[in-house]
Amino acid sequence: MTASIGPAGQHVVVSEYGETPLDALAHHVHLEAQPAPDPSTLADTDVVLRVRTCAVGWVDLLMMSGQYQHMVAPPYTPGLEFGGEVAWTGAAVRRVSVGDRVLADGFSAGPRSSGPHQRYGGFSTWVVIPEHAAIPAPHNLSLDQCVNLLGNYETAYHVLVDRGGVQEGDVVVIHGASGSTGLAGVQLAKLHGATVIATGRSPEKLAQLRKLGADHTIQTVDDDGSVRRFRTDVKALTDGRGADIVWDGVGGDISVESLRCLRFGGKLCIVGWAATPFVARGKGKRGAPRANQLPTNIIQMKGLDILGCPAVIATKHDATLRPRRLQWIFDQVEAGRIVPHVGPAFPLSDWDAALRHKWRSVFVGGCVIHPD
Ligand SMILES: NC(=O)c1ccc[n+]([C@@H]2O[C@H](COP(=O)([O-])OP(=O)(O)OC[C@H]3O[C@@H](n4cnc5c(N)ncnc54)[C@H](OP(=O)(O)O)[C@@H]3O)[C@@H](O)[C@H]2O)c1
Repeated sequence: MTASIGPAGQHVVVSEYGETPLDALAHHVHLEAQPAPDPSTLADTDVVLRVRTCAVGWVDLLMMSGQYQHMVAPPYTPGLEFGGEVAWTGAAVRRVSVGDRVLADGFSAGPRSSGPHQRYGGFSTWVVIPEHAAIPAPHNLSLDQCVNLLGNYETAYHVLVDRGGVQEGDVVVIHGASGSTGLAGVQLAKLHGATVIATGRSPEKLAQLRKLGADHTIQTVDDDGSVRRFRTDVKALTDGRGADIVWDGVGGDISVESLRCLRFGGKLCIVGWAATPFVARGKGKRGAPRANQLPTNIIQMKGLDILGCPAVIATKHDATLRPRRLQWIFDQVEAGRIVPHVGPAFPLSDWDAALRHKWRSVFVGGCVIHPD
């Protein structure tokens, strides 16, 4: 008889895609009892984690309606980046031992991965990950900080270093700077000697961003929610020249106005489209109904570079990208130069509130769910 790994716990389960993330939350996502994994069903190379914390991501929400580019067939558990203690290891596992503090690599474990481990997301008491996804947690970060590290800073490195080629002295505008990835972008740009103009909709969050490292902030919307001519503000901050790089995590009208903010030969880095999330139809139906269009005349006359920056997909096309950026990130962590910002922590029983807060962009940076 095999010894039990531990007591039963709970996990959030997406049973069916919604028409939208909010429809999924209302009708197709539930908290259910979760038995501890049965070792007799696991591979020799599997590791069981007792989850202590999981980041709550914008991508988790889009996945629930099948509106994200990477689809996981329901039923599955959300939660892309999680960490905890090793509770069990298969006979062939060498790199980690029971009791180790581990961060799961979202490329090869959880819903953003492909294969048998993708149904085990971090909104749960127990997860099964393959050994190669178990990353020892950096000693100088809390687990909450660890689960806000890789997705955000790998994205920031890909956008600003590998695609944007950020240089010391550059002026970088970051839209959606209060978001999980945008905040990492602010900090990474500063570490490369850039001047950062962080933008957003809320004066309160912009004040927080100045405390978190942004040199300047610009409110991009008027009281009625329409996008302002913020090119005037960017020009005023750059002696009329314009920015070298724009990080665009917001999309829609913000993208078009951004072209006006760039200097001749500047770069627009397309990160995402938080303002226009429905570029695919709900329920996992594909199809982009003419979303996010840019005027080619401005791009041409200003000699702009428009750069798509998908951090995970690019890595699948060029495997050399990832080791370099991971090395840089872990070196910065070791030196104390990267300390991820963590927003509020929600108990697992409040999973619905945590996701709805993320959808409404209530706080700065990422929040976490604690299964305890
Ligand atoms: N390229 C990549 O590899 C990559 C990786 C991860 C994520 N992404 C994408 O990047 C985008 C941001 O992701 P995230 O994880 O940082 O999301 P997030 O934490 O939810 O942050 C998004 C930010 O965008 C702003 N925003 C949200 N809705 C908006 C609206 N309707 N109008 C204007 N601004 C709005 C908010 O800032 P304010 O409230 O302060 O305005 C919010 O803080 C998403 O589209 C995501 O899919 C791309």
